[in-house]
Amino acid sequence: MRGVADSLMMHSWLVLGLVAAVAGYDYTTVPGLNHDTWWGPEGKEEDTSIRPFQIKWEKAMIDDLVYRLENRRKFVPSMDDTAYHYGVNTHTIGYWLDYWARDYNFTAREAYVNKHPQFITNMQGLDVHFVRIVPEVPEGKRKIPLLLLHGFPGSFLEFHEAIDHLIAGVADKDFVFEIVAPSLIGFGYSDYTNKQGLGGAEMAVIFKKLMNRLGHDKFFVQGGDWGAHIADIMVVFFQEEIIGMHTNLGMALTDKAFSMITMGSLYPAALMPNDLTGRLYPLKDTLQWLMREFGYFHFQATKPDTIGICVTDTPSGMFAWFAQLISMASRRANYDDPRGGLDLYTPSS
Ligand SMILES: *[C@@H]1O[C@H](CO)[C@@H](O)[C@H](O)[C@H]1NC(C)=O
Repeated sequence: MRGVADSLMMHSWLVLGLVAAVAGYDYTTVPGLNHDTWWGPEGKEEDTSIRPFQIKWEKAMIDDLVYRLENRRKFVPSMDDTAYHYGVNTHTIGYWLDYWARDYNFTAREAYVNKHPQFITNMQGLDVHFVRIVPEVPEGKRKIPLLLLHGFPGSFLEFHEAIDHLIAGVADKDFVFEIVAPSLIGFGYSDYTNKQGLGGAEMAVIFKKLMNRLGHDKFFVQGGDWGAHIADIMVVFFQEEIIGMHTNLGMALTDKAFSMITMGSLYPAALMPNDLTGRLYPLKDTLQWLMREFGYFHFQATKPDTIGICVTDTPSGMFAWFAQLISMASRRANYDDPRGGLDLYTPSS
């Protein structure tokens, strides 16, 4: 049976590549985008002011969180010797939930998340939260505006430490960075929308306009994960404005790329250096891994309301959902690690 499933999967991949190649999609024309869609509640005006913002964790909120963690129900014990094969092993979760309820220093962490100056401004009806660091520009240097776009499961905190290095690392250069790191729409302290249709392209418009509002006609963009998707779109739609782009998730979903990947499975070394072929080939292993580990993606894409209820009402459930993603996405060997590799992470305070 296994052989049949493998060859079916291989077959589907080949068919997909060939169909895309034959269909000859037009990837070169830039479609139009509405720059003024109102995503907020009706009857409000766009408040274009830029307001300083600080994250504040109310005592009542913390007390409620700790109460829920302390009064969690007993979980069904995971099966013996299954490591993280079926998700977060319930034998390992108690350590983290207890830590969160009893030892997590909310005061220290609140100060940490507020380490960089933050602001809020309204874009097309939605409040957008962002870190902004405007540097002194010494004589003889120029300022380079840099937009940093985070991904999932992440937040603007992805850049918290990198920002320190970016600011410090320019001593011997002829430029200094101005950093703008927003919370994506629907993430962290940015608003979410109740209207349908706000995807990567629509966020690209919002963040391009945010940079314009901050006085930058031209800027650099860096993106990871969803941020990479948005940055990809920005460089296509805003070719005049984007001076340069850095991505940590390079993707080419074109007919040519699919065909090359497919044909490459016959002789991977023709496509990439030998020491890298194991990252993609055998294609069957990569596809099986994707099928096994990306159920979360399918679920979030198709039934977000349901999982939203689960993770909103219980911090244990939210922890488990994210812990699984961090375990799965950071190291493939974590799958067979009895503690899911999470011990590599030290509690933060
Ligand atoms: C928590 O962090 C704050 C600020 O750093 C510190 O003053 C306090 O002593 C810490 N509390 C505990 C219990 O460690």
